[in-house]
Amino acid sequence: MNYLPQEIIRRKRDGHSLSREEIDFFVEGLTSGAISESQVAAFAMAIYFQGLGREECVALTLAMRDSGNVMEWRSESLDGPVIDKHSTGGVGDLVSLVLGPLLAACGAYVPMISGRGLGHTGGTLDKLESIPGYNTAPDNSLFRGTVRSAGVAIIGQTGLLAPADARLYAIRDVTATVESIGLITASILSKKLAAGLDALVMDVKVGDGAFMPTTEASRELARSIAEVATGAGTPTTALLTDMNQSLANSAGNAIEVREAIEFLTTSKRNDRLETVILELGAEVLQTSGLSTSEQEAFNTLRQALESGQAAEQFARMVCALGGPGDLLERPESHLPLGPVVLEARPAQGGTVTAIDTRELGLVIVRLGGGRTDPGQEIDHRVGLDEMASLGEEVGSERPLAVVHAASEEDAQQAAAEVCAAFTVGDGAPEAFPVIHQRVMAE
Ligand code: URA
Repeated sequence: MNYLPQEIIRRKRDGHSLSREEIDFFVEGLTSGAISESQVAAFAMAIYFQGLGREECVALTLAMRDSGNVMEWRSESLDGPVIDKHSTGGVGDLVSLVLGPLLAACGAYVPMISGRGLGHTGGTLDKLESIPGYNTAPDNSLFRGTVRSAGVAIIGQTGLLAPADARLYAIRDVTATVESIGLITASILSKKLAAGLDALVMDVKVGDGAFMPTTEASRELARSIAEVATGAGTPTTALLTDMNQSLANSAGNAIEVREAIEFLTTSKRNDRLETVILELGAEVLQTSGLSTSEQEAFNTLRQALESGQAAEQFARMVCALGGPGDLLERPESHLPLGPVVLEARPAQGGTVTAIDTRELGLVIVRLGGGRTDPGQEIDHRVGLDEMASLGEEVGSERPLAVVHAASEEDAQQAAAEVCAAFTVGDGAPEAFPVIHQRVMAE
């Protein structure tokens, strides 16, 4: 059927539900360029105001997924399910670096397509690029071979994957139409589902360092993603996890890879990070059928972690994608940090009662660890370490964080910004659970 783009926009503008055929037609024109930028912008704005019903959102997700290559894994005869996790992003969120190899060590295959830092949040791809030689853009055969041999390959998005979303996202970015639950759902899932997954777990952050502005909005996004992904044939659950403070002790690029390696190879682990990793892992092991109960899933994950098997899968992935063979043995020599090291000390001792987590993410961007311009090179060495947690006592013996910077001037500036981001007092901080809620498709 040959529709008129302006009629589809008008119907959405007026609050009607679009049919699958109308959505397919629009996405085809979006991908080929036959539909103009102004029409795409008007379509996005109509959806922003009128929303998308579940069936429309499933149709938009599938049409955008099918606008490029969709991976299939059946021909590989893998002996486990193909699964993944996706996060809305945060500060010190190094979950993917650990959870990908951990799930592989539990018998799953994890083709993880990751992104770069966005705004104040860090990006898994940027973190991995701090590993010398690591190829985040392998050809298809190396990518598939790595998934087969290491059980996990974390790489970047290619132009062949969901190209409709690439165009739509770029237009949304400059037309104030990013903040739409339906469009965010279709955008995230079109890329994730193009990886040919059997199951997915979604980590939706809650708190001042989260992408969504309120807990209610995070909950709505989590429900939308769980329902649309499940409706599109990929069983998915979501966890709302806390981002009112950095998830890991460190935040940056090389420094987070170092912490991930420490997590995988020693028993020195941030408790909140460990909880989020194990809870997300237990979700997707059950959804994919690898575990039949929560307890069994936790046991499997613990065994894979403590036995060193997860570390082994990480090492195999790094090696297969061109990184150093001895990264786990000598992380310090392969992952240099900023040469100027400075403790950010509070003006007065006391208890950490609040943290402006978003601001901590921006400190890293200003240090050069994130971008202010899309094509910009970043400095993988800079970041924050030993960040104090909510409720922790700080003072002359215990700094708020340790800054790793490229210059003395940057270090001084960042230390002052870190001090301003922490509130130190004598009361107790608001208590946030690490896992706020589990969300399933209804
Ligand atoms: N991340 C995405 O990939 N898409 C969105 O729309 C928002 C965040």
